[in-house]
Amino acid sequence: MSTEDNFKRQERKAYRMVIILFSLFFVFIAGSFLHSKIKTYFGGNQSHTNKAAGTTIESGIKNGIHMRTGLIAAQGFMTVVNNCTSCHSSKIIIQNRMNKESWNTTIKWMQETQSLWDLGKNQEIIVNYLTNNYPIEDKGRRENLLDIYWYELEN
Ligand code: HEC
Repeated sequence: MSTEDNFKRQERKAYRMVIILFSLFFVFIAGSFLHSKIKTYFGGNQSHTNKAAGTTIESGIKNGIHMRTGLIAAQGFMTVVNNCTSCHSSKIIIQNRMNKESWNTTIKWMQETQSLWDLGKNQEIIVNYLTNNYPIEDKGRRENLLDIYWYELEN
C-alpha cells in the first residue's frame, strides 16, 4: 500500500470521527431541547423562567397556591398533600369547612372505613392547617361580583 493510500485512509477515518462527533452533539442538543419541552408541557408552572412570578422549580407554588393540588401553601400544607391527596382530590377537602372536632371525626371515619393510615403527630399539623386556612366562617360566601352591568329601569 502506498503512502498516499495510507494517508487517504487516515483522512477518511478523521472525517468519520468528525461526523460521529457532530451527530452525538446534535443528538445531545435535540435531547435537551425535547426534555425541556416535555418538562414545560407536563410540569405546568414549574418552569425555570417563572421564578420571578413567584414560582419555584421545586415546589410548584404560585401566588401562595400549590399548583398541583390547589391547596393554600401555608405551614403544614405538604403534610396535607402527602397524607390527604392520594385517595381523593384536594377539592373534597377544600369544600368541607369544619372545626377541629369535626376534622378529627372525619379522619377517624376514614381510618375506620376507608383504610386511612394512622397519622400520628401529623394529625395535629393537618387539622391545624385545615382550620387555619379553611375556616368555617368563609363557608358559602359567594365571590364578589365582577363586571356588573347596571341598567335603568323603565316605567
Ligand atoms: C386511604 C384513602 C384516603 C386518604 C389517605 C384520605 N381520605 Fe379522605 N376520604 C376517603 C374516601 C374513600 C372518602 C369518601 C369519598 C367519597 O365519598 O367520594 C373520603 C372523604 C373525605 C372527606 C369528605 C367527608 C364527607 O363527610 O363527605 C373529607 C373532608 C376528607 N376525606 C378529608 C381527608 C383528609 C383531610 C385527609 C388527610 C388526613 C384524607 N381525607 C385522606 C379516603 C381517604
